[in-house]
Amino acid sequence: MKDKKAIIDEYLNRFLPMANEEPEMLHKAMRYSVFSGGKRLRPILIIFATQMFSPDFTSALPAACGVELIHTFSLIHDDLPALDNDTMRRGVPVCHKAFPEYVAILAGDALLTLGIRLISYEGIHWSVSYKKLVKLSNIITFNIGSRGLAGGEMMDLFSQGKKISYDELLFIHTHKTANLISASLEIGGILGGASPKEIEILKKYGTEIGIAFQIKDDILDVEGNPKILGKDIKSDIMAEKATYPAVLGMDKSKKELQERIEKAINYADYFKEDMWFLKNLALFIKNRSA
Ligand code: IPE
Ligand code: IPE
Ligand code: MG
Ligand code: MG
Ligand code: MG
Repeated sequence: MKDKKAIIDEYLNRFLPMANEEPEMLHKAMRYSVFSGGKRLRPILIIFATQMFSPDFTSALPAACGVELIHTFSLIHDDLPALDNDTMRRGVPVCHKAFPEYVAILAGDALLTLGIRLISYEGIHWSVSYKKLVKLSNIITFNIGSRGLAGGEMMDLFSQGKKISYDELLFIHTHKTANLISASLEIGGILGGASPKEIEILKKYGTEIGIAFQIKDDILDVEGNPKILGKDIKSDIMAEKATYPAVLGMDKSKKELQERIEKAINYADYFKEDMWFLKNLALFIKNRSA
């Protein structure tokens, strides 16, 4: 993961406008949020899924970076006063504290747009076919819109302070988080040339680790170490968020986390020699402290 992270960071630097390009403050804010930290989980998933089916993963770098930019946009907007109203992210003050709020909103808009551009077009310079690029555009735009991430964020905020059912909770976690993680594996599979059956299994694996990832995020908000996490804890409790621990209690949350990791590992089994990475990644998600 470390090697892949270094390559992703190098390409993110190439794709992002330089900080001294006008409008300077906007480009500085975009770079600030992208380079302040981050595990780069989603681009790593794209690169790994591509590599499972093709030895050369360089053609996946634009899409991998694009997904990370879209993820960073979602974090900047998620932290805004009108949404989660948080103050720390990736170990530094959130974008709207480091810059004026309007700059943070625009930096989010610009990262989202650049991300879509990298996924839907830039691969052309790496010989990705138009047919594949159209497929990728469809996947990413579906998974971040009102039937994906934006829809999940909507229900997350709408549910604040309310009692919700398990099905509603699962809707939030699937849409706001798991869909982009699953889409990353799907995108990687398509770029590498996986079969429809292989892509189906990658997506199912992605949904399980994706929901597990958000369950763990909710658990870390209760019992994580803010210094390691890079963001404040107890912020969900203060905001009366509909989280796993709030709806199900901590024990049931940990049990479901474990079950989803096991399900993911079962899907990973299908891939024989590549299964060690998928398995370790699922365990990493369960055991992570950041
Ligand atoms: C945080 O995502 C938002 C969630 C979906 C829980 P990450 O935990 O992947 O954040 P970074 O990219 O490592 O900062
Ligand atoms: C965020 O969920 C999911 C996104 C789509 C950004 P959270 O609101 O729980 O993420 P954190 O805890 O702020 O990173
Ligand atoms: Mg949120
Ligand atoms: Mg948040
Ligand atoms: Mg959270």
